[in-house]
Amino acid sequence: MRTAEIMLREYSEMLETALADYLSRLSLPLTDRLKKAMSYSLLSGGKRVRPALLLEFYKLCGGIPEKALPFACAVEMIHTYSLIHDDLPCMDDDIMRRGKPSCHMVFGEDIALLAGDALLTLAFESALSAEGFDPEKIVKAAYILAKAAGMNGMVGGQVIDIETESGSVDLETLQIKHRNKTGALIKACAQIGCILAGASETQTETAASFAAHLGLAFQIVDDILNAEGDSEILGKPTGSDAEKGKTTYVSLLGLEKSRELVGELTGQALELLDKFEGDAGQLRELTVMLQSRQL
Ligand code: IPE
Ligand code: IPE
Ligand code: MG
Ligand code: MG
Repeated sequence: MRTAEIMLREYSEMLETALADYLSRLSLPLTDRLKKAMSYSLLSGGKRVRPALLLEFYKLCGGIPEKALPFACAVEMIHTYSLIHDDLPCMDDDIMRRGKPSCHMVFGEDIALLAGDALLTLAFESALSAEGFDPEKIVKAAYILAKAAGMNGMVGGQVIDIETESGSVDLETLQIKHRNKTGALIKACAQIGCILAGASETQTETAASFAAHLGLAFQIVDDILNAEGDSEILGKPTGSDAEKGKTTYVSLLGLEKSRELVGELTGQALELLDKFEGDAGQLRELTVMLQSRQL
């Protein structure tokens, strides 16, 4: 197993213990279905790439990963909420996620919607409860997270996705969509890791640029996998983008050019990692691994 895979596994284990602990605190009567829905989606696998990025940047800039866990949990909660809502019939209407029926297929649309809402707010409960940091760092990191998740980030990107579902879309608009719906949260993870560790402005900016390249490449790979991936491995349906007539990098540029672009973006991301003095070996390996991921 490659060291980046070991890193992902170790961070996933830490993360899942902490996530389970947050969920165990839900105490209102009659909310059993909500708790089950949240835990069903949150603890159902997933690559955990975003928290791993956050924790590894935190480590690269001098931190001890465990300390940043409340923020790592927060990004995974926001990511999971976005997937629950993304799969709803009013959105992508996808019935499988992470190898299991989507949240709304099991718990109904009402509870799935609320599980997403609860995860989004629990994310900030978690982030703002982080201990042992200057309050200034917490505020800055939480602000970045809120902005990345919202209308000028992930939510905005999802809206562009909906608004461009029919009709022709140019490459620039597609790039804006991808940079926001997927790239924004990935970029925030790198920034937050740096900010919490007290990295310089320059380092934080470099990490942000690295993650912006990685985030765009990540969503182009998602487009490629939707077109030609194995739905058994992916644990989610394939072919749905073409069925819905969505414009993707694959529909606009074709598979070969899309793959080339992923290679270029990965190369640019790796160059930026060279600017860090610490050991960026794991991040480097993860970045390379992600360009040819099958899942
Ligand atoms: C899927 O994200 C949705 C996108 C934003 C591309 P991931 O590929 O990270 O999904 P999980 O967390 O591993 O299930
Ligand atoms: C997901 O984009 C982006 C967010 C959930 C914010 P997609 O709709 O392309 O991702 P999958 O393929 O369903 O995971
Ligand atoms: Mg979608
Ligand atoms: Mg989708």
